[in-house]
Amino acid sequence: MICPDAPVLLEIRDLQAAVDDQPILKGVNLTIRAGEIHAVMGRNGSGKSTLSKVLAGHPAYTVTGGSVHYRGNDLLDLAPEQRARIGLFLGFQYPVEIPGVSNLEFLRVATNARRSEGGLEELDTFAFEDLVRERLEVVKMDPAFLERSVNEGFSGGEKKRNEILQMALLEPLVAILDETDSGLDIDALRIVAGGVNQLASPENATLLITHYQRLLDLITPDYVHVMAAGRILRSGGRELALELERTGYDWVDQELERFAAEGQQTGRAPLEVG
Ligand SMILES: Nc1ncnc2c1ncn2[C@@H]1O[C@H](COP(=O)(O)OP(=O)(O)OP(=O)(O)O)[C@@H](O)[C@H]1O
Ligand SMILES: [Mg+2]
Repeated sequence: MICPDAPVLLEIRDLQAAVDDQPILKGVNLTIRAGEIHAVMGRNGSGKSTLSKVLAGHPAYTVTGGSVHYRGNDLLDLAPEQRARIGLFLGFQYPVEIPGVSNLEFLRVATNARRSEGGLEELDTFAFEDLVRERLEVVKMDPAFLERSVNEGFSGGEKKRNEILQMALLEPLVAILDETDSGLDIDALRIVAGGVNQLASPENATLLITHYQRLLDLITPDYVHVMAAGRILRSGGRELALELERTGYDWVDQELERFAAEGQQTGRAPLEVG
């Protein structure tokens, strides 16, 4: 749903970030309002996961410029766990395994941290089990996965489903899903997409990072953005994704070159090509 008057949840302005002094994000601009679904696409290595990790507060990345506001407050000032508590969620491209930590207990602690931030009472083991069983339905997940260690030995697709289960429990306001569709079989893709649609509401927003139109056939984006060389090069509606499916990314190089040339003319820092 395109909502020009809805409150802005996430405002990213000229965001720049580096890893080991190597610049990766080179000026990302993006505004996300309540009720919207955004898709970010782009070649491998264009900076999509870096953007999601910088937003989540991953310590490997240093923000070197720009700003991010979450519901009007400076997000970059906050520790990663505080970002999660106030409703920012990142579904990882490569979910991590945490051996020795029960999935059920992990989900309970995370859910309670989020609930207490929202002024809700914490759930005891029994109350949480009721909630988790209800939310398992969203992703049609077998309760047996609750008894295992977080993601340990989960198949690729099972890990992705577990990410959406986390999301269903945490009820984030801004959910960033980094290639949640990768590795899912056709049925699982439908279930996960159905879960994401079910969780989307006029109060929250979703940022989907994906390479494939097949996900966007199931979750209709309001906006599609193409990242290249660490910035958003082009934005459009859902038709942009369909166009990419036909044309691929050949135009990206030309546009980057034009961008670089314009930068030289105007005296702005030229964009590195490639
Ligand atoms: N921790 C890191 N150390 C070194 N290089 C990094 C690190 N994180 C990202 N990079 C580099 O930054 C660039 C962008 O990576 P990123 O993972 O953001 O790409 P992506 O757009 O998500 O790609 P993909 O579609 O393959 O997932 C890549 O060249 C990558 O090698
Ligand atoms: Mg990535």
